[in-house]
Amino acid sequence: MPTPDLSTIVLATRNPGKIAELRELFAGAGVSVVGIDDVAPDAPEPEEGTASFIENATIKARAYAAACGLPCLADDSGLEIDALDGAPGVISSHYAFDGTTDGPAAAMTRAERDAANNERVLRELGGVPPEQRTARFVCVMVLAGADGATLAQSRGTFEGRIGQPPDVPRGDNGFGYDPLFLAAPEFARTGAEFTKDEKNARSHRGAASRAMLDQIRAFRNG
Ligand code: IMP
Repeated sequence: MPTPDLSTIVLATRNPGKIAELRELFAGAGVSVVGIDDVAPDAPEPEEGTASFIENATIKARAYAAACGLPCLADDSGLEIDALDGAPGVISSHYAFDGTTDGPAAAMTRAERDAANNERVLRELGGVPPEQRTARFVCVMVLAGADGATLAQSRGTFEGRIGQPPDVPRGDNGFGYDPLFLAAPEFARTGAEFTKDEKNARSHRGAASRAMLDQIRAFRNG
């Protein structure tokens, strides 16, 4: 197989925070990172499935690679709670609405949605003791080549437990389920009580990014 040209990678996101984070990380490998809006601002947002993180990341990476004709990196992430059989999983961002993104969910801010999701999780875990409240954040990344073929995949996890009120929600950093998530192995601080750098060093997204970067480096050196 010829070595793919990975000097520029398009991130399948319109989130400036995610672009800045990965741009910093990938600069070390000589890879220039741009957002989808820089190269194909009119590319429509692909419809995500509900089967798995890997399916969603693959759909996004392929659709955007096809839209801009450049290699494209997509991620998908969420929270898996063991006592809820892995829920909220792929519908983490809209759990309070059973994964539905239109209707009342569309009228809410992200912070309001996060609060509604957190309330549902705490309600469903009511009465479950601490040692059975194990959970993990999962992040999956897929790199699609300019032709849409998958070039690399990576996965990272961040283990912890969902705390119990009134001990949680707690902390001002982070987003989503962070204020409920007591990070293993200490279970002392929530994800919202880590600094950005501390969280990157331990998180699912940090681990998946580093594993993806290793594969991109191997391609570039290969
Ligand atoms: P997406 O990957 O941007 O679709 O995000 C999926 C959803 O998973 C987010 O909206 C959050 O609800 C949750 N999630 C993913 N990563 C984190 C994290 O690091 N902290 C808290 N919540 C997260």
